[in-house]
Amino acid sequence: MSTYPLMRPRRLRQNATIRRMVRETHLTPDNLIAGLFVRHGEQIHQPIASMPGQAQMSVDVLVREAETLAELGVPAVLLFGIPQHKDAVGSENYNPHGIVPEAIRAIKAAVPHMLVITDMCFCEYTTHGHCGIINAIDSPYHTPHLPDGYLLNDETLTLLAQASVVHAQAGADIIAPSGMIDGMVLTIRHALDQAGFAHLPIMSYAAKFASSFYGPFRDAAESSVQGGDRRNAQIDPPNSREALKEVALDVQEGADILMVKPAMPYLDILTRMRDTFNLPLAAYQVSGEYSMIKAAAANGWLDERAVVLESLAAIRRAGADMIITYFAKDAARWLQEK
Ligand code: PBG
Repeated sequence: MSTYPLMRPRRLRQNATIRRMVRETHLTPDNLIAGLFVRHGEQIHQPIASMPGQAQMSVDVLVREAETLAELGVPAVLLFGIPQHKDAVGSENYNPHGIVPEAIRAIKAAVPHMLVITDMCFCEYTTHGHCGIINAIDSPYHTPHLPDGYLLNDETLTLLAQASVVHAQAGADIIAPSGMIDGMVLTIRHALDQAGFAHLPIMSYAAKFASSFYGPFRDAAESSVQGGDRRNAQIDPPNSREALKEVALDVQEGADILMVKPAMPYLDILTRMRDTFNLPLAAYQVSGEYSMIKAAAANGWLDERAVVLESLAAIRRAGADMIITYFAKDAARWLQEK
């Protein structure tokens, strides 16, 4: 039996005020984290071709960007470094004077209440573009029974621990390990605790998929893989049970905040995480999601502002407490204007 004409859902949609009153999810600048790319030099604002509106910035320019974001009410930034030189072990990632430690110090000095999160991975720092130490015949870590080019797990953990402490000492507020290395959260937790940083939270890229939506980022961070790919570390896109297993392990290892990445094609994972775990959840609207909207908007096919705010609200609805997005600055501005 139909409930019509008794029930008329349109009653609660008939004007903006009533819609506002029954709205279930809210988006504010508090929910946003801006992803930023930093490189050496001065006065550098080098546009990233595959991500219109985004740029690699030198530390001085980056600090101004952080100030603008703070004024707009955005509480946090996530930093990606483009090092001066790369090597097989990504040593610039644990150099106390590397680009990210320099950027952390500068932002914390200029905008102390801005939370600085650092992406903890080696792919931006290695010549081969893999997320850690890889197996090679001429490497001191050579492991004969593993294939050449295989990402060596436990050897990489040692370096992740070292780099995390370096970032913490520079003033990072949150460490965000993103390489999908087994045991990364536990190893970093122990290293931080031993170095006096027991209070520093870890935001784990817990459910990180081997996604082709990272394409534009690899231009932006100059971190393309030279030979091979990241499918032996990141989760196979069709798998959801495996993602939940990964997330459960990170919870046991002491993660404080859990992330799913990418965001929009993986909202089902986000919702299942929301239903299962009681930690704060972050979703990463990645470079490909950003560039798709930008390209369509540039062609006049989509209304950029409307689509961005809708996508961010949808990610919140699916369960995210916070969203890492390259739209953070624009979205915060649009939210202020509303
Ligand atoms: C790894 C890292 C990547 C991204 C964030 N951290 C690249 C990768 O895993 O291949 C991608 C983010 C994006 O596409 O916006 N350091």
